[in-house]
Amino acid sequence: MNTDQVVQTFTEFFRERGHRLVTGSSLLPPPTDPVLFTTSGMHPLTPYLLGRPHSQGRRLVNVQRCLRTTDLDEVGDPTHLTVFEMLGSWSLGDYGHPESLRMGHELLCDGFGIPQGLLHVTVFDGDDQVGPDLESLRTWQELGVPVERTGDENWWSNGPVGPCGPDSEIFVWTGGSDVPPRGTPTTDPRWVEIWNHVHMRHHRHEDGTLEPLRQPGIDTGMGLERLLTVLQGRGSVYETDLFEPWMRLLPRLWDLDERSLRLVCDHLRSGIVVVGDGVRPSSTGRGHVLRRLIRRLLTTLRRGDPSRTLTDVPVDLVEHTLDHFQQLCGPESVREVLLHEEQRFTRLLERGQRVLSRTEFDRPLTDEDYRCLHDTHGLPRDLVTGLRTPRLSGSLDAG
Ligand code: SER
Repeated sequence: MNTDQVVQTFTEFFRERGHRLVTGSSLLPPPTDPVLFTTSGMHPLTPYLLGRPHSQGRRLVNVQRCLRTTDLDEVGDPTHLTVFEMLGSWSLGDYGHPESLRMGHELLCDGFGIPQGLLHVTVFDGDDQVGPDLESLRTWQELGVPVERTGDENWWSNGPVGPCGPDSEIFVWTGGSDVPPRGTPTTDPRWVEIWNHVHMRHHRHEDGTLEPLRQPGIDTGMGLERLLTVLQGRGSVYETDLFEPWMRLLPRLWDLDERSLRLVCDHLRSGIVVVGDGVRPSSTGRGHVLRRLIRRLLTTLRRGDPSRTLTDVPVDLVEHTLDHFQQLCGPESVREVLLHEEQRFTRLLERGQRVLSRTEFDRPLTDEDYRCLHDTHGLPRDLVTGLRTPRLSGSLDAG
């Protein structure tokens, strides 16, 4: 199945079971939301999970783009992306956890054809505030899927306050057809998590107390790119059809090692989507996240060849990305934002090199020096550290 078929199969499955397809939102959460970017499919639905009636009813399905910076250090491995898409289904006070798990099992095995023997799940085993999730445990046992019981790993919340609850995660064995599944999700990394079913049944308040929700709901989220990797039998998200144009065009442009190529691809693609959603590089908030992504991308790209530049990025890639995420702005305007930021970074580096080559800085720097370099010359500390430590000059991502 290619990307479109996978998305179609997911949304149709839930539509046939009474769910309304709601349009995914942009990466920017509503102004009342405390987070900078949408990090999960449930984000735009928070008020409804807390009890507000939704105009489309009590069963919803959608595809939502998300951005997570918590996984930045893992980007470059086979599964983590900065911007990714989440296939999600919701019950807003309608059906409960067992029905959600049963539907999930049916879709994975019958809809996507994943052999039942390659599945493993985890469930919440309780803590000092909430008892074990016996309902999910029983459901999985009835379905004949092996279960591992864990603590914190099976508790989902969107932050310190807000809706939360125990979850059940579904893993698929990726050890290859000749290696039978072994171990459990917490003991063998070849179990890859693909789908999380959360029983949203509490509201956590500022003081840490949990209040049961009057209308408990279900929130599920499945990373599209990971699912594609499993279904297409690939070794990484970058080898799926979704990244085909990237992996065809980028290696022709730049000769990078595999991890760097993946990071460049991820950050460039993420940068395009973020700019496409209206964010511009700046020194605070969302703009700062975008700036850091672009600088990390440039630093990785120029390692080994400082003449590499985003000017060479084919506009087709920008267009392909904006089309995929159904973003309406023109590819040229997105490209201009990226190139402008590249020029800014280049000038900053040149200034940094000039200032630091002065004899007055030919000694270990003190905190006072760093303050002066920042306040007088606009040189962030990490950038200075990178410039002074050749080994680190590949990691100038601050500021
Ligand atoms: N909110 C849960 C998650 O992000 C399920 O969608 O994993």
